[in-house]
Amino acid sequence: MQLASHTFFRQTKAMQPNLRIEIAHTDKLNPDLLATILALCSRAYEEDLESLFATFADTTHVLGFLGEALASHAMWVTRWLQPGDAPLLRTAYVEMVATEPHQQGRGFATAVLRRLADAISEYDLGALCPAKPRLYAKLGWVFWRGPLFIRSGERLTPTPEERIMILRLPQTPSLDLDQPLSAEWREGELW
Ligand SMILES: CC(C)(COP(=O)(O)OP(=O)(O)OC[C@H]1O[C@@H](n2cnc3c(N)ncnc32)[C@H](O)[C@@H]1OP(=O)(O)O)[C@@H](O)C(=O)NCCC(=O)NCCS
Repeated sequence: MQLASHTFFRQTKAMQPNLRIEIAHTDKLNPDLLATILALCSRAYEEDLESLFATFADTTHVLGFLGEALASHAMWVTRWLQPGDAPLLRTAYVEMVATEPHQQGRGFATAVLRRLADAISEYDLGALCPAKPRLYAKLGWVFWRGPLFIRSGERLTPTPEERIMILRLPQTPSLDLDQPLSAEWREGELW
């Protein structure tokens, strides 16, 4: 009996395969892998993300593989966030955090996001617009509390319906999270 439960424990542990995480700029990805990323994200978000994907330029992908199969993904783009009228912060803005539906709840997105946080350490700030805040909160991301705006030239457009989270990085200056925060206008999703 004791032997049987010991064996079961070992088998359970063995069924937790290791996630291999790789980071690559979109220019270095072959079209097949880009199509695989888009398909995984579309399955996870349950919508066709092709047109939204087309709006992202200069993306860097964090890819979690089980063997040769892509299981989890996140990416970042560079944006310029500005607290109040302080200097612009070169920000790694995270998008498309997604795990293959049947692989969810195994810590894969958490592992991908931890690796992403290491990879963006040269930026001034990390930021994202969360659908699942708890996933990020346990990794140190916090909500920006002040009002959010989108900058177009001199114009600031309030976006009161949006909430974003930020991640402080080694180079992040002292921040007052109650200040207004703006980001440059972009095509597609503003935040
Ligand atoms: C949100 C999403 C990316 C999470 O991916 P995931 O790989 O399942 O994430 P994790 O496994 O790291 O964490 C999810 C939960 O599993 C739990 N978990 C972590 N490791 C685990 C393990 N080994 N066994 C069981 N559960 C585990 C986590 O604690 C977390 O629980 P919580 O919700 O209570 O915090 C995924 O659900 C998804 O693709 N959703 C659709 C797209 C989406 O909404 N993306 C987020 C946009 S902000």
